[in-house]
Amino acid sequence: MTVVMTNEPPAFPFDWDGTRLPAEIDALRAEPVRKVRTIAGAEAWLVSSYELCRQVLEEPRFSLKDTSAPGAPRQYALTIPPHVVNNMGNITGAGLRKAVMKAINPKAPGLEEWLRARAGALVDALVAEGAPGELRGAYADPYSAGLHCRMLGIPEEDGPRLLRSLDVAFMNAPREIEAARLHWDRDIAYMTERLDDPATGGLMAELAALREDPDYAHLTDEMLATVGVTLFGAGVISTAGFLTMALVSVLTRPDVREALTAGEHGVAGAMDELLRVNLSIGDGLPRLALEDVRLGEVDVRAGDLVLVLVEAANHDPQRFPDPLAFRPDRENAADHLSFGGGRHYCPATALGKRHAEIALETLLDRLPGLRLAVPVEQLVWRTNFMKRLPERLPVAW
Ligand code: HEM
Repeated sequence: MTVVMTNEPPAFPFDWDGTRLPAEIDALRAEPVRKVRTIAGAEAWLVSSYELCRQVLEEPRFSLKDTSAPGAPRQYALTIPPHVVNNMGNITGAGLRKAVMKAINPKAPGLEEWLRARAGALVDALVAEGAPGELRGAYADPYSAGLHCRMLGIPEEDGPRLLRSLDVAFMNAPREIEAARLHWDRDIAYMTERLDDPATGGLMAELAALREDPDYAHLTDEMLATVGVTLFGAGVISTAGFLTMALVSVLTRPDVREALTAGEHGVAGAMDELLRVNLSIGDGLPRLALEDVRLGEVDVRAGDLVLVLVEAANHDPQRFPDPLAFRPDRENAADHLSFGGGRHYCPATALGKRHAEIALETLLDRLPGLRLAVPVEQLVWRTNFMKRLPERLPVAW
């Protein structure tokens, strides 16, 4: 038999099943910076040790903004206009950072009460209908979408239509997706209308009012609508994704369930460990090298694409001993990279945590017998998407 030797880099992402760490990660420990082939067909450096992932996220020579430059190697096709990749940079540059940070503060008056009430009402609806229930469509998604509608000050009834766009906007495809462009245009038009709608409140009303201020004469309606559309998208996909995958952990791992319900830490005390073991990020956080950089043992060239593999960093045994064990009392549990790191560190970490905490507490408190109602092998994992997600999460109680 002839063995054909090939230098073809392995395809990335490796695996969409969110109940286990991809098998490939063990082998990466010996090669923490490794060439892979992306969905778009480009070569990229996959970075998998904790230390080097942090280096990439913290060094300005690795740029997020420039990943959308024309001709740059891509992880997958863009689904948004190229300049929107630098979303938070654009928000800051337009003088809107303060308004955005205020809107995403979980300590905003009445917000926590609202989250508890909304989670409670969704559990009421599940109970009223009777088991089985479906925790993505009937819990995580409407809860997250409702929060973001409230924060933006738009009608909660419009959540489902905005939510539908995300199924396309966060696809990882080799080529441009027509539906993504159509959704984008429609959502920007919708959000632009909200700026002139007297019923609008929250962040969108605050942004709309800035149009009267001569200091903000540089703002266009499209820029303001983009803030609304992107915060809904980034926020809902991340919060609903993390919550859904935290629910998967609770439903499939007795150690996680035990720690959240019987442990001394409770849900809040276990939140960072839940984030560390969470496999919701399905892609690599992309950066473009702006200069030649030595990364571990590898010379990365200016113009190369680098992908930070968060789940590998979060399970690096050098940083987190016995990484597969769920231990809320790890002294460094909060060092995980599930919110990124460096200049693009997620601005909404406090809201992301509080949102999940209240949802998990409410569900586990109200439905102590909560369990997966299908064999775990029957969960259908979404493929080629920015987040790992079970299409449905059927439960009984
Ligand atoms: C548990 C929930 C969340 C998780 C796990 C999460 C995760 C992340 C991660 C990993 C990044 C870094 C991306 C990168 O470096 O390429 C990020 C950035 C970002 N997140 Fe979050 N996020 C969450 C909630 C939210 C929410 C609720 C919002 C807004 C409503 C939000 C808005 C953003 C924005 C605007 C950025 C870009 C920051 C920048 O480029 O400076 N996130 N998030």
